[in-house]
Amino acid sequence: MPPDNIFVARDGSQLHVRPILATDVDAIQRMFGRLSPQEIHLRFQYGIRHLSARAARRLCELDTAQEAAFVLMDRNVEPNEIRGVGRIHADAATRSAEFAVLVERAWTGRGLGAFLMQRLIEECRQRELDELWGQVLVENRPMLDLCRQLGFARRRTPSEPGTALIALHLKND
Ligand SMILES: CC(C)(COP(=O)(O)OP(=O)(O)OC[C@H]1O[C@@H](n2cnc3c(N)ncnc32)[C@H](O)[C@@H]1OP(=O)(O)O)[C@@H](O)C(=O)NCCC(=O)NCCS
Repeated sequence: MPPDNIFVARDGSQLHVRPILATDVDAIQRMFGRLSPQEIHLRFQYGIRHLSARAARRLCELDTAQEAAFVLMDRNVEPNEIRGVGRIHADAATRSAEFAVLVERAWTGRGLGAFLMQRLIEECRQRELDELWGQVLVENRPMLDLCRQLGFARRRTPSEPGTALIALHLKND
């Protein structure tokens, strides 16, 4: 069995799993640079072409009381590269967390997205949150299919047209 901090992808590739670190700014910017406009649209739901150092720092330097993020790090290349990242932003008042996940296109279809979502669900359970939710564009079939397989359901019609609000109930009642 591989150690807990190693994720073995469907094709046998091994990636290191760890929380995102403040020192990941350059790697996050490089990952962003490898994304297509379509992927940026699906993940961020608005058009940005360049991830500034300031925005990258914001993604890497977390307020751990409210946020958690995990990366799948490829240590077979130098410098090491992030192939997938998943994050939550929790709201203590509603006992819920919003998720976001991103897998580099060349690495999709190997189980990275499902693994990251499961890691985020586990993190929410550890934080004793009641719900994990996200807004996903209705055209984003891979993400909607993935979330349906994990038990997410549409919660209500979101205010933004073209997006689906999906949620997973976590309470053990
Ligand atoms: C959506 C995304 C995270 C999926 O990541 P992934 O690593 O390819 O996902 P997995 O390999 O774990 O696939 C899990 C499931 O997703 C679905 N899926 C993945 N790729 C798919 C595709 N091209 N078409 C349809 N379903 C797909 C399938 O249900 C799949 O289950 P299966 O492998 O049992 O068939 C990835 O494509 C991505 O980062 N997209 C751009 C950013 C984005 O859309 N983020 C989500 C909004 S927050």
